[in-house]
Amino acid sequence: MNHSKCVNSECKTCECNLCCTKINNFGVKRGGAEILKDVNLHIHCGDLTAVIGPNGAGKSTLLKAILGDISHTGELQFLDAKNNGTTRPSMGYVPQKLELDSTSPTSVLDLFAAAHTNLPIWFSYPKRIRERVRESLARTHGEHLINKRLGELSGGELQRVLLALALDPIPHLLLLDEPVSGIDQKGLELFYETVSILRKNYDLSIILVSHDLNLVAEYADRVAFINNKTIECCGTPEEVFTNEKVIQTFGLNWSNHFQKAEKDRVANAFMV
Ligand SMILES: Nc1ncnc2c1ncn2[C@@H]1O[C@H](COP(=O)(O)OP(=O)(O)O)[C@@H](O)[C@H]1O
Ligand SMILES: [Mg+2]
Repeated sequence: MNHSKCVNSECKTCECNLCCTKINNFGVKRGGAEILKDVNLHIHCGDLTAVIGPNGAGKSTLLKAILGDISHTGELQFLDAKNNGTTRPSMGYVPQKLELDSTSPTSVLDLFAAAHTNLPIWFSYPKRIRERVRESLARTHGEHLINKRLGELSGGELQRVLLALALDPIPHLLLLDEPVSGIDQKGLELFYETVSILRKNYDLSIILVSHDLNLVAEYADRVAFINNKTIECCGTPEEVFTNEKVIQTFGLNWSNHFQKAEKDRVANAFMV
């Protein structure tokens, strides 16, 4: 595969057509207030990029702007591995919040059918639709949820259903805004593990807004720290979590965590 025109040497060979996504000098204003300014980010194909930052920093705003849901200045550039054009990639999105009527009879199957067919809800869906939805849900270990009402899903189950929906069809770029509440630690870990496997299996570019720094340290390839309306620091988890501004913001010192991880890595390397 020819990647010679991609100027960033960090871009690696990928299976999908999208080589990388670049956010150049991105800015967002809402209600007259500046929310984001001078945001620059380079997303590599097949990488899980975690976006972290304090509440109200503009993480969800960044995802919505990338999606084209809200207007922005600056440029979004998508480099295509085949022809190096700037074709817009397909995007999947899981929002931070979804207002659901807990009494609604709408099922998981209805949700998928509404997204992928013109069939009205309550129609008796053909077997092939049911099979396709089951296959989609299996990607996130949610096939058993197919007949559940949306209102009866737990936070973690709903997140897996929405992730499966965002992956049907498989997009070039997956944007995930992690809910702040409603998911227990085990559910969160399962989510990160699933996302991590998916990115390898499908060579997906993923941007994940995250509130769990431990899981980011474990699973993310790159981390972008949003603060004071812009990305103040971006790099590997180790680079970002040992950055002075990040330590000050989260009140954590991660040096020991990474020193221990490095010691474990070296010890394991000697054991093989
Ligand atoms: N519809 C809106 N109109 C005006 N300001 C908004 C709107 N939505 C969010 N904001 C403001 O934008 C800032 C960033 O919000 P958000 O992106 O949701 O932050 P985060 O996801 O990092 O917690 C906040 O100050 C918030 O009040
Ligand atoms: Mg948010």
